[in-house]
Amino acid sequence: SAAEKGGYDYFMLKEIAEQPKAVADTLLGRIDPAGSLTLDEVRISPSELREIDKVVIVACGTAFHAGLIAKYAIEHWTRIPCEVELASEFRYRDPILDVQSLVIAISQSGETMDTLMALRHAREQGSKVLAICNTNGSTIPRESDAVLYTHAGPEVAVASTKAFLTQLVACYLVALYLGQVRGTKWGDEIRDVVRELSRISVEVERVLRTMEPVRALARTLAAKNTVLFLGRHVGYPVALEGALKLKELAYMHAEGFAAGELKHGPIALIEEDLPVVVVVPSPRGRSVLHDKIVSNIQEIRARGARTIVIAEEGDEAVVPYADHLIRIPATPTLLQPLVATVPLQVFACELATARGNEVDQPRNLAKSVTVE
Ligand code: AGP
Repeated sequence: SAAEKGGYDYFMLKEIAEQPKAVADTLLGRIDPAGSLTLDEVRISPSELREIDKVVIVACGTAFHAGLIAKYAIEHWTRIPCEVELASEFRYRDPILDVQSLVIAISQSGETMDTLMALRHAREQGSKVLAICNTNGSTIPRESDAVLYTHAGPEVAVASTKAFLTQLVACYLVALYLGQVRGTKWGDEIRDVVRELSRISVEVERVLRTMEPVRALARTLAAKNTVLFLGRHVGYPVALEGALKLKELAYMHAEGFAAGELKHGPIALIEEDLPVVVVVPSPRGRSVLHDKIVSNIQEIRARGARTIVIAEEGDEAVVPYADHLIRIPATPTLLQPLVATVPLQVFACELATARGNEVDQPRNLAKSVTVE
């Protein structure tokens, strides 16, 4: 009913709007005033966590994209090798797991059969399993050694939005916690990141207030057949997520690529007026990456692409090559997906509406996939 949708036309719009609160709720009570993480719910002892020599993340769909981003954070802050695998592929390749592996299963519903089977397989090998889940008491957390709930509140729309942002927050918390428990050389950086993470919901709110041009742009693209998405580093999984949203909702051919891979094939797809969304990393810090992506934008634009550029406020280098520029607030590099994904959700939702599609219930899809 309209009341359940809180005055929004679709649950998806309501859930997009709820993201600042959802993100704040995921953080609630987990960072103390001194900036230390208190993840008491993670019932895997610090001494066990110090023994871990590998992290393996298993998940499907959007949750898998959260896992891809988590890998960057976990490896950077903890120096523990981290693999991310589609849950449906995991157990069939006889993965190398033992008691020193920490398996993280990410799932909004907690009922995804592929993810459940992957975690059962991991536990059979003696690995510890930590679930990152949004649904209290669901099967995946019940069968795991520990659970970190995302506290996003119920997500009704089939296309995941607030669950994704809160999965990211939970992943950052786990990565930071592992760094804290094991000691890391990134002490100063971690302090900065914890501070920025604590106030990130304000930035998500700011992004939401500037989405009208993104909706207007989406409406102009309703007759297109294809949209490509490019990113590097954590922007690459963001590109994959942008493409998945567009497939699910707008039924368009949408693909995400690592921008550096363009020259190895996908650049052949570029033709006159093809919309290409590019997620640009911060020009600060890892500026090499920034410069490389700016040349990627130049290359595709020279070949006729219509460039839709998502870049940090103050990033002037992209301006000459952006047919459409979507600004996001400056954040630490690893946290950028929390703000960069939001315009992509809004974009897909508006394109679906413009194409006359059912936003909350896309064809052929179910909210939780309880078959393998
Ligand atoms: C996201 O928009 C999708 N509907 C889908 O990819 C989803 O993320 C996937 O099926 C995993 O679901 P889960 O998080 O409930 O395990």
